[in-house]
Amino acid sequence: MDKSKEIVRRVVADVGGAFTVGLGYIGDRLGLFTALAAKEACSSGALAEETGLNERYLREWLKGMVAAEYIEYDPDSDTYFMTPEQKAVFSDDSSPVFAGGVFQFALPSLFQTPRILDSFRNGGGISFLELGEEIADAIDRMHRPWFDHLLTQDWLPRVPGLVERLRRGISVLDIGCGLGRASVALARAYSESRVVGIDPHAPSIRKAKKLALECEVRNVEFLDLSLEGMPRDPKFDLVLAIDSIHDMVDPVGALRVVKELLASDGLVLWSEPTGSHNPLENRNLFGKMRANLSPFHCLTVSMAGGGAALGTIIGEAGGRKLAAQAGFAHFERFDIDSPVQQFFGLRP
Ligand SMILES: C[S@@+](CC[C@H](N)C(=O)[O-])C[C@H]1O[C@@H](n2cnc3c(N)ncnc32)[C@H](O)[C@@H]1O
Repeated sequence: MDKSKEIVRRVVADVGGAFTVGLGYIGDRLGLFTALAAKEACSSGALAEETGLNERYLREWLKGMVAAEYIEYDPDSDTYFMTPEQKAVFSDDSSPVFAGGVFQFALPSLFQTPRILDSFRNGGGISFLELGEEIADAIDRMHRPWFDHLLTQDWLPRVPGLVERLRRGISVLDIGCGLGRASVALARAYSESRVVGIDPHAPSIRKAKKLALECEVRNVEFLDLSLEGMPRDPKFDLVLAIDSIHDMVDPVGALRVVKELLASDGLVLWSEPTGSHNPLENRNLFGKMRANLSPFHCLTVSMAGGGAALGTIIGEAGGRKLAAQAGFAHFERFDIDSPVQQFFGLRP
């Protein structure tokens, strides 16, 4: 009985989390976190006046967010406020701990449940394009802390010899670059290097070009192209593949193309979501989230193209297998301690 009760507690926590995601999404989309963060403290009435939204719904949102410990409440003045730490997580897209993008990813992904039900019955899936621009935008916002605060500051310096080469100036290809934030961060940090970002998702490439212009970074270019459509010359010294190979329709074919595009002394720096091919090893906070989101995103986008459908978590074992199938002679795992991504190095 005690064990059953423990399972029920987990179910209650998960359902509470699911509804909290719903309210988190509403707060993020309606600018409620940012409106509250801009004030020292405020009542539901003041928030309604400020935002032009319905006071009764706002009061319920505020109470829910207090229960979730996302915001604070002062019973004496009947006002709500956010601590600096809460503001960093919910109201500042540029902070290293911003998490608002996760709401934007999670809820619209769950909205796809009727179609995913159909896919469970009949196979097939929902392509990245069909998932809509909001999902691409959400991925950019979810990953922004990585690219603004970790990529050049922490991750690349842990790859032996790479930063020296980037500083001297090399050619870099960022495959599945999405909205281009990693490419721009790299080009900005290493002005002697030249970065090309490619992605077949046209709306993402449009936004990537805009980002490069806004950041006034000139040693980067973006192409609305799939990896398979890339001309095989010139070759690249570094190919970056961040969180994209497992989503692809033909991951082994994609890695074969990467091999063709790589200079003879080049390196593929390939990251995949942290986790294991063994589901028992994913019984942790991040593992649970990734394993359960897989059918709603990573699996379905590959299934939509009749693809390999690797799912979100391939683990190191999956990475090694794909690299060998694609004909890479050398595989290594870099010592980058990250709960979000694990990093593999491939050489011809
Ligand atoms: C999960 S997103 C990651 C985007 C970005 N690298 C990041 O970490 O924010 C995966 C990306 O891979 C792209 N992609 C899928 N298949 C591709 C292919 N065959 N060639 C190039 N990019 C591809 C998708 O369009 C999508 O933008």
